Amino acid sequence: MHALAFDVGGTKIAAGLCDDEDRIIHRWRIPTPHDPADIDAAIAGIYREAKGLCESGGTVGASGGTADSADRSGIGSIGISACGNVTSDRRTMSFAPNIAAWHDYPLADTVEAAIGHECPVMVENDANCAGWGEYVHGAGRGSAYMVLLTVGTGLGGAIIADGKLYRGAFGMAGELGHVAMVPDGDFCGCGLRGCAERYISGNALERFARSAVRRYPDRAGRLMELCGGNVDHLRGAMIAQAVKEGDSLAQYAFDKIGEWLGRVMAQASAVLDPELYVIGGGVVEVGDVLLGPARRNFDRFLEAGAHRPHARIVAAEAGQDAGLIGAANLSRQVTAG
Ligand code: BGC
Ligand code: NA
Ligand code: ZN
Repeated sequence: MHALAFDVGGTKIAAGLCDDEDRIIHRWRIPTPHDPADIDAAIAGIYREAKGLCESGGTVGASGGTADSADRSGIGSIGISACGNVTSDRRTMSFAPNIAAWHDYPLADTVEAAIGHECPVMVENDANCAGWGEYVHGAGRGSAYMVLLTVGTGLGGAIIADGKLYRGAFGMAGELGHVAMVPDGDFCGCGLRGCAERYISGNALERFARSAVRRYPDRAGRLMELCGGNVDHLRGAMIAQAVKEGDSLAQYAFDKIGEWLGRVMAQASAVLDPELYVIGGGVVEVGDVLLGPARRNFDRFLEAGAHRPHARIVAAEAGQDAGLIGAANLSRQVTAG
């Protein structure tokens, strides 16, 4: 059976129709609507398209497979990887810092209703899905104690302990983006202050770069060129491009994110002691530009650092697809059980 996976973030919804080995055989990508009912409708619309593809056999060529029964079968489950806190029954969005209207929102119910109850829906935190995806199919294979951090609009976390996704008593474990790093620091979308995601996210990268441009205008030539002369238009992709060309202010912005990432991982190790950190999200595409400072600062802040093994810190392998792959895999498990 196919699984249809959605990754709903603060800015975009990605969807992937997955075969029974979690390979993505067809993709969609749309901006995230503001209204929760519009999100439900968008998901239902993609479901109908995906179902059409399955029925017409349109997925056969895309997967490169043969026209066996699995290719022609329909959609057995929907997995939604969602950017917030999910209840332990994997059905309701309790809260989402970057989707204001997802408060106690029964997402699995509303989507099941929107698709005429044709197939079961599972909802799981997006970072948990990505962490599971990386553990099963990516950089985390074989690492029974692993932590994933995903740097996007927000900062998400997932804990794999003893080869299982650790969800906590209420389904809300692993929210490493909301560990307080700075007492009374910047306001966070969650309502608290000084949370890690204020200092480690796509937005934080832009903020660090903008402040560097304002402070050192004489060194800001390349960044100013890339943003068309308006520092408010400076975006993550431009900072990533500048850093590849050796720009020092762009490097400063990645150094800052890396430093905070190192601090968060050191704190996480004090509690969880994983063997591996997998870093995902768009920002990590620059590789060692970010992971270098992250590793240095992890080593610097790790308790008993000189007297213990240090966890490895690597980039996600499935990249932006990890959430989709994990959601597909989990949805199949949940609905089978
Ligand atoms: C949310 C997390 C989510 C992360 C990544 C944070 O703002 O609180 O639940 O996993 O963003 O989307
Ligand atoms: Na999580
Ligand atoms: Zn927060």
